[in-house]
Amino acid sequence: MTRVAVGVPLLLLFLALIAVSAARNGPENVIKLPSQASRFFRPAQDNDDDSNAGTRWAVLVAGSSGYDNYRHQADVCHAYQLLRKGGLKDENIVVFMYDDIAYHHANPRPGTIINSPHGKDVYQGVPKDYTGDDVTVDNLFAVILGDKTAVKGGSGKVVDSGPNDHIFIFYTDHGGPGILGMPTYPYIYANDLNDVLKKKHALGTYKSLVFYLEACESGSIFEGLLPEGLNIYATTASNAEESSWGTYCPGDEPSPPPEYDTCLGDLYSVAWMEDSGVHNLQTETLQQQYELVKKRTAPTEYSYGSHVMQYGDVGLSKDLLDLYMGTNPANENFTFVDANSLKPPPSRVTNQRDADLVHFWEKYRKAPEGSARKTEAHKQLLEVMSHRLHVDNSVMLVGKILFGISDGPIVLNKVRSAGQPLVDDWNCLKNMVRAFERHCGSLSQYGMKHMRSFANICNAGIQMEQMEEAASQACTTIPPGPWSSLRRGFSA
Ligand SMILES: *[C@@H]1O[C@H](CO)[C@@H](O)[C@H](O)[C@H]1NC(C)=O
Repeated sequence: MTRVAVGVPLLLLFLALIAVSAARNGPENVIKLPSQASRFFRPAQDNDDDSNAGTRWAVLVAGSSGYDNYRHQADVCHAYQLLRKGGLKDENIVVFMYDDIAYHHANPRPGTIINSPHGKDVYQGVPKDYTGDDVTVDNLFAVILGDKTAVKGGSGKVVDSGPNDHIFIFYTDHGGPGILGMPTYPYIYANDLNDVLKKKHALGTYKSLVFYLEACESGSIFEGLLPEGLNIYATTASNAEESSWGTYCPGDEPSPPPEYDTCLGDLYSVAWMEDSGVHNLQTETLQQQYELVKKRTAPTEYSYGSHVMQYGDVGLSKDLLDLYMGTNPANENFTFVDANSLKPPPSRVTNQRDADLVHFWEKYRKAPEGSARKTEAHKQLLEVMSHRLHVDNSVMLVGKILFGISDGPIVLNKVRSAGQPLVDDWNCLKNMVRAFERHCGSLSQYGMKHMRSFANICNAGIQMEQMEEAASQACTTIPPGPWSSLRRGFSA
């Protein structure tokens, strides 16, 4: 495929993008002419091996539940539709989603889920492999490893792959340093996930594996942990130290239809999917997608954002996207060139961790003055905020008790140099979290942000007894959590 083959549809798309760009008027939105496209490598599969012979497998995971987390399941449903259009079969796509969104009483369009303001329904047809309480870390690991006997509940579908196959894993949810959320407990610790990937490699049941990961501090999941040589290439929504961002949120630009009081998508997830959705993926490499997703997700002078990262065998990024995602025949004439990929970055987005606050605030704002609904929404908002305060203050106090008033915050917030994992002793980390939760209550989804503090307590050589003592001094009472789920410990 060459530039000469670029057809009329591409030209139309290009003109439409120019129009959008001109309307935006921002200097960062200038679109180059196709003839100025700087990179145009690997124009077609060079058929030097049998890399196309294998089967494409996918594992899609939404790690959350609850209407305020609408966006994660929307991302996963959207990814499923893309892969189906790309030619993957249902038997090769394993979906993990709690499945409490489409028929949630707060959903203004019952039975449907959208992933962008003008988006079509992405819920229809999504296989319900692992839903509700079957969305567990044990099931996820068993599915990746292709271990049918270890799966509990669900459809029983696993990645039953062979040595020539290609695997794509997409996970989206809240996270924190070294940890990823699940709608059930325990959550996923980074070392356990990397151990599973190493085991899968040892089984010899794939040719190459691509992992797209969206979560806060998602770089910390692979940083210093995912070695080269496993034929695994990963990109993450953010580096090891920063938040990732929700998008299409109420009050954002662009915002969801007014009847939605929740975010519809996540910035990195939507960036790769909206790109994959319009191109002939036999003409676009993983590297090209990485670069444009990075650009769209990056912070700018006008908007928040995060730094998309690459880990593992980065050399695999010269592969065509088609090898993992297939390609939609309807896009066959939409050749990838840099210039037709630059979507203007959204001008406002919402921090992953504040997206639930936006939801509760919108509920409060929209409830009629003096109504019981208003009082209830007000109570919910206050409970969420007081839980956050309690968690933040307790962690800080534990640090001060352990390391002193002035050194406490310094030790807790210390960031190790690039390439080093968050912590050396992951069992210590899990035990410290348990000790804290015994005395101070659950960290919950929000509290994942404090994982670096617990890691640093381990790195400083603090013993369990010292931690128990400090936590018991810091937390003499546990305020009642807003929901029972917040009171459960995430460390299991
Ligand atoms: C792509 O372009 C060719 C040549 O113009 C045309 O025959 C074909 O139908 C187009 N494909 C699609 C999916 O529109």
